Amino acid sequence: QAVQQGPRGAFIVFEGADRAGKSTQCQMLVEHLQASGVNAELWRFPDRTTAIGKMINSYLTSQSEIDDAAVHLLFSANRWEKREELLRKLASGTTLVVDRYAYSGVAFTAAKGLPGLDRAWCTVPDAGLPAPDVVFFLSLTVEQAAARGGYGEERYEKADFQRKVLDQFQALRDSSWRMIDASQSIEDIQQQLREQAAAVVARCQRGAAPLGRLWE
Ligand code: TMP
Ligand code: MG
Repeated sequence: QAVQQGPRGAFIVFEGADRAGKSTQCQMLVEHLQASGVNAELWRFPDRTTAIGKMINSYLTSQSEIDDAAVHLLFSANRWEKREELLRKLASGTTLVVDRYAYSGVAFTAAKGLPGLDRAWCTVPDAGLPAPDVVFFLSLTVEQAAARGGYGEERYEKADFQRKVLDQFQALRDSSWRMIDASQSIEDIQQQLREQAAAVVARCQRGAAPLGRLWE
Protein backbone atom coordinates (compact mmCIF):
# COMPACT_ATOMS: atom_id res chain seq x y z
CA GLN A 1 0.00 0.00 0.00
CA ALA A 2 1.41 3.38 -1.03
CA VAL A 3 2.22 5.76 1.79
CA GLN A 4 0.20 8.93 1.54
CA GLN A 5 1.87 12.29 1.96
CA GLY A 6 -0.30 15.34 1.43
CA PRO A 7 -3.68 15.39 -0.28
CA ARG A 8 -4.52 12.50 -2.57
CA GLY A 9 -5.88 12.76 -6.08
CA ALA A 10 -9.43 11.77 -7.03
CA PHE A 11 -10.23 8.55 -8.83
CA ILE A 12 -12.85 9.46 -11.43
CA VAL A 13 -14.29 6.79 -13.74
CA PHE A 14 -16.43 7.18 -16.85
CA GLU A 15 -18.74 4.36 -17.85
CA GLY A 16 -21.40 3.85 -20.46
CA ALA A 17 -22.14 1.87 -23.58
CA ASP A 18 -20.15 2.37 -26.76
CA ARG A 19 -20.67 5.74 -28.54
CA ALA A 20 -21.97 7.57 -25.47
CA GLY A 21 -19.20 10.18 -25.78
CA LYS A 22 -17.01 9.02 -22.88
CA SER A 23 -13.68 9.57 -24.60
CA THR A 24 -14.57 13.10 -25.72
CA GLN A 25 -15.83 14.07 -22.26
CA CYS A 26 -12.86 12.49 -20.45
CA GLN A 27 -10.42 14.38 -22.64
CA MET A 28 -12.24 17.67 -22.12
CA LEU A 29 -12.49 17.16 -18.36
CA VAL A 30 -8.78 16.38 -17.97
CA GLU A 31 -7.83 19.46 -19.97
CA HIS A 32 -10.17 21.57 -17.87
CA LEU A 33 -8.79 20.20 -14.59
CA GLN A 34 -5.22 20.80 -15.73
CA ALA A 35 -6.08 24.34 -16.80
CA SER A 36 -7.58 24.91 -13.33
CA GLY A 37 -4.32 23.86 -11.68
CA VAL A 38 -5.34 20.30 -10.77
CA ASN A 39 -2.69 17.69 -11.42
CA ALA A 40 -4.70 15.27 -13.59
CA GLU A 41 -4.09 12.42 -16.03
CA LEU A 42 -6.26 10.61 -18.54
CA TRP A 43 -6.24 6.82 -18.34
CA ARG A 44 -8.30 4.21 -20.16
CA PHE A 45 -9.20 0.56 -19.89
CA PRO A 46 -8.50 -1.60 -21.69
CA ASP A 47 -4.96 -0.20 -21.68
CA ARG A 48 -3.97 -1.62 -25.05
CA THR A 49 -0.27 -0.76 -24.66
CA THR A 50 0.70 -3.60 -22.30
CA ALA A 51 1.35 -7.22 -23.33
CA ILE A 52 -2.09 -8.19 -21.97
CA GLY A 53 -3.61 -5.12 -23.61
CA LYS A 54 -2.23 -6.21 -26.98
CA MET A 55 -4.00 -9.56 -26.63
CA ILE A 56 -7.23 -7.73 -25.78
CA ASN A 57 -6.79 -5.42 -28.77
CA SER A 58 -6.30 -8.36 -31.08
CA TYR A 59 -9.50 -9.91 -29.71
CA LEU A 60 -11.55 -6.71 -30.02
CA THR A 61 -10.43 -6.19 -33.62
CA SER A 62 -11.26 -9.84 -34.41
CA GLN A 63 -7.69 -10.73 -35.25
CA SER A 64 -7.89 -13.49 -32.66
CA GLU A 65 -10.46 -15.62 -30.88
CA ILE A 66 -10.15 -16.07 -27.12
CA ASP A 67 -12.39 -18.13 -24.84
CA ASP A 68 -15.00 -15.87 -23.20
CA ALA A 69 -13.98 -16.64 -19.62
CA ALA A 70 -10.30 -16.27 -20.49
CA VAL A 71 -10.74 -12.89 -22.16
CA HIS A 72 -12.80 -11.69 -19.19
CA LEU A 73 -9.86 -12.52 -16.95
CA LEU A 74 -7.48 -10.73 -19.33
CA PHE A 75 -9.56 -7.52 -19.10
CA SER A 76 -9.42 -7.86 -15.31
CA ALA A 77 -5.70 -8.65 -15.29
CA ASN A 78 -5.20 -5.51 -17.38
CA ARG A 79 -6.64 -3.52 -14.45
CA TRP A 80 -4.65 -5.42 -11.81
CA GLU A 81 -1.39 -4.85 -13.67
CA LYS A 82 -2.05 -1.09 -13.46
CA ARG A 83 -3.14 -1.13 -9.79
CA GLU A 84 0.16 -0.25 -8.20
CA GLU A 85 0.79 2.67 -10.53
CA LEU A 86 -2.80 3.84 -10.05
CA LEU A 87 -2.44 3.84 -6.25
CA ARG A 88 0.93 5.55 -6.47
CA LYS A 89 -0.45 8.33 -8.69
CA LEU A 90 -3.45 8.93 -6.43
CA ALA A 91 -1.29 8.95 -3.29
CA SER A 92 1.09 11.46 -4.86
CA GLY A 93 -1.83 13.82 -5.51
CA THR A 94 -2.60 13.10 -9.15
CA THR A 95 -6.29 12.95 -10.09
CA LEU A 96 -7.03 10.13 -12.54
CA VAL A 97 -9.82 10.40 -15.07
CA VAL A 98 -10.36 6.87 -16.32
CA ASP A 99 -12.27 5.95 -19.48
CA ARG A 100 -13.99 2.64 -18.45
CA TYR A 101 -13.18 0.36 -15.53
CA ALA A 102 -14.41 -2.87 -13.96
CA TYR A 103 -18.10 -2.02 -14.50
CA SER A 104 -17.51 -2.34 -18.24
CA GLY A 105 -15.66 -5.54 -17.53
CA VAL A 106 -18.67 -7.09 -15.82
CA ALA A 107 -21.35 -5.58 -18.06
CA PHE A 108 -19.82 -6.70 -21.36
CA THR A 109 -19.11 -10.29 -20.30
CA ALA A 110 -22.38 -10.77 -18.42
CA ALA A 111 -24.26 -9.41 -21.46
CA LYS A 112 -23.12 -12.47 -23.39
CA GLY A 113 -25.56 -14.50 -21.31
CA LEU A 114 -23.29 -17.54 -21.18
CA PRO A 115 -23.88 -20.35 -18.69
CA GLY A 116 -21.51 -20.00 -15.75
CA LEU A 117 -20.52 -16.43 -16.67
CA ASP A 118 -23.27 -14.60 -14.81
CA ARG A 119 -22.84 -11.23 -13.13
CA ALA A 120 -21.75 -12.74 -9.81
CA TRP A 121 -18.98 -14.74 -11.49
CA CYS A 122 -17.93 -11.72 -13.53
CA THR A 123 -17.37 -9.47 -10.50
CA VAL A 124 -15.04 -11.88 -8.65
CA PRO A 125 -11.77 -11.15 -10.50
CA ASP A 126 -12.13 -7.39 -10.01
CA ALA A 127 -13.14 -7.53 -6.33
CA GLY A 128 -10.54 -5.74 -4.21
CA LEU A 129 -9.37 -3.32 -6.89
CA PRO A 130 -9.37 0.35 -5.86
CA ALA A 131 -12.96 1.66 -5.97
CA PRO A 132 -13.55 4.92 -7.86
CA ASP A 133 -14.54 8.01 -5.86
CA VAL A 134 -17.17 8.69 -8.48
CA VAL A 135 -18.51 6.99 -11.60
CA PHE A 136 -19.97 9.24 -14.26
CA PHE A 137 -22.35 7.05 -16.24
CA LEU A 138 -23.05 8.59 -19.64
CA SER A 139 -26.51 7.34 -20.39
CA LEU A 140 -27.58 7.01 -24.02
CA THR A 141 -30.11 4.61 -25.55
CA VAL A 142 -29.19 2.36 -28.45
CA GLU A 143 -31.57 4.36 -30.63
CA GLN A 144 -29.85 7.63 -29.71
CA ALA A 145 -26.46 6.06 -30.43
CA ALA A 146 -27.73 4.89 -33.82
CA ALA A 147 -28.99 8.40 -34.57
CA ARG A 148 -25.44 9.67 -33.93
CA GLY A 149 -24.08 7.60 -36.79
CA GLY A 150 -24.10 4.25 -35.07
CA TYR A 151 -21.35 1.94 -33.95
CA GLY A 152 -17.84 1.14 -35.17
CA GLU A 153 -16.35 -2.08 -36.39
CA GLU A 154 -15.05 -3.61 -33.16
CA ARG A 155 -16.43 -6.69 -31.49
CA TYR A 156 -19.42 -5.78 -29.22
CA GLU A 157 -20.39 -2.75 -31.33
CA LYS A 158 -23.79 -4.15 -32.36
CA ALA A 159 -27.17 -2.72 -31.32
CA ASP A 160 -28.65 -5.95 -29.92
CA PHE A 161 -25.61 -6.61 -27.78
CA GLN A 162 -25.38 -2.99 -26.58
CA ARG A 163 -28.97 -3.25 -25.31
CA LYS A 164 -27.95 -6.18 -23.12
CA VAL A 165 -24.87 -4.29 -21.94
CA LEU A 166 -27.10 -1.39 -20.84
CA ASP A 167 -29.28 -3.80 -18.81
CA GLN A 168 -26.18 -5.16 -17.09
CA PHE A 169 -24.91 -1.66 -16.30
CA GLN A 170 -28.25 -0.86 -14.64
CA ALA A 171 -27.78 -3.77 -12.28
CA LEU A 172 -24.28 -2.57 -11.32
CA ARG A 173 -25.27 0.93 -10.21
CA ASP A 174 -24.03 1.82 -6.73
CA SER A 175 -23.84 4.94 -4.56
CA SER A 176 -20.73 6.19 -6.37
CA TRP A 177 -22.64 6.55 -9.65
CA ARG A 178 -23.85 9.82 -11.12
CA MET A 179 -26.17 9.38 -14.08
CA ILE A 180 -25.53 11.87 -16.87
CA ASP A 181 -27.97 12.25 -19.77
CA ALA A 182 -25.58 11.83 -22.69
CA SER A 183 -28.13 13.00 -25.26
CA GLN A 184 -27.46 16.62 -24.22
CA SER A 185 -24.97 18.81 -26.07
CA ILE A 186 -21.26 18.16 -25.53
CA GLU A 187 -20.96 21.53 -23.77
CA ASP A 188 -23.90 20.97 -21.42
CA ILE A 189 -22.62 17.53 -20.42
CA GLN A 190 -19.13 18.92 -19.87
CA GLN A 191 -20.48 21.71 -17.66
CA GLN A 192 -22.21 19.22 -15.35
CA LEU A 193 -19.13 17.02 -15.24
CA ARG A 194 -16.88 19.93 -14.30
CA GLU A 195 -19.10 20.92 -11.39
CA GLN A 196 -19.39 17.41 -10.04
CA ALA A 197 -15.71 16.61 -10.59
CA ALA A 198 -14.64 19.78 -8.76
CA ALA A 199 -16.61 18.68 -5.70
CA VAL A 200 -15.04 15.21 -5.74
CA VAL A 201 -11.51 16.57 -6.22
CA ALA A 202 -12.03 18.97 -3.29
CA ARG A 203 -13.37 16.18 -1.07
CA CYS A 204 -10.31 14.02 -1.81
CA GLN A 205 -7.94 16.94 -1.24
CA ARG A 206 -9.50 17.56 2.18
CA GLY A 207 -8.76 13.96 3.04
CA ALA A 208 -12.47 13.45 3.65
CA ALA A 209 -12.70 10.38 1.42
CA PRO A 210 -10.59 7.30 2.00
CA LEU A 211 -10.13 5.18 -1.12
CA GLY A 212 -12.38 2.13 -1.03
CA ARG A 213 -12.14 -1.31 -2.54
CA LEU A 214 -14.43 -2.61 -5.22
CA TRP A 215 -17.04 -5.29 -4.50
CA GLU A 216 -15.77 -6.41 -1.11
P1 TMP B 1 -12.98 1.09 -25.76
O1 TMP B 1 -13.84 1.26 -27.00
O2 TMP B 1 -13.34 2.03 -24.68
O3 TMP B 1 -11.52 1.06 -26.10
O4 TMP B 1 -13.34 -0.37 -25.17
C1 TMP B 1 -13.19 -1.48 -25.99
C2 TMP B 1 -14.30 -2.46 -25.80
O5 TMP B 1 -14.00 -3.37 -24.74
C3 TMP B 1 -15.66 -1.88 -25.49
O6 TMP B 1 -16.61 -2.49 -26.37
C4 TMP B 1 -15.94 -2.31 -24.07
C5 TMP B 1 -15.14 -3.57 -23.92
N1 TMP B 1 -14.65 -3.86 -22.56
C6 TMP B 1 -14.85 -5.13 -22.03
O7 TMP B 1 -15.46 -5.99 -22.66
N2 TMP B 1 -14.33 -5.43 -20.80
C7 TMP B 1 -13.63 -4.49 -20.08
O8 TMP B 1 -13.18 -4.79 -18.96
C8 TMP B 1 -13.44 -3.18 -20.63
C9 TMP B 1 -12.67 -2.16 -19.87
C10 TMP B 1 -13.96 -2.91 -21.88
MG1 MG C 1 -14.64 1.52 -28.67
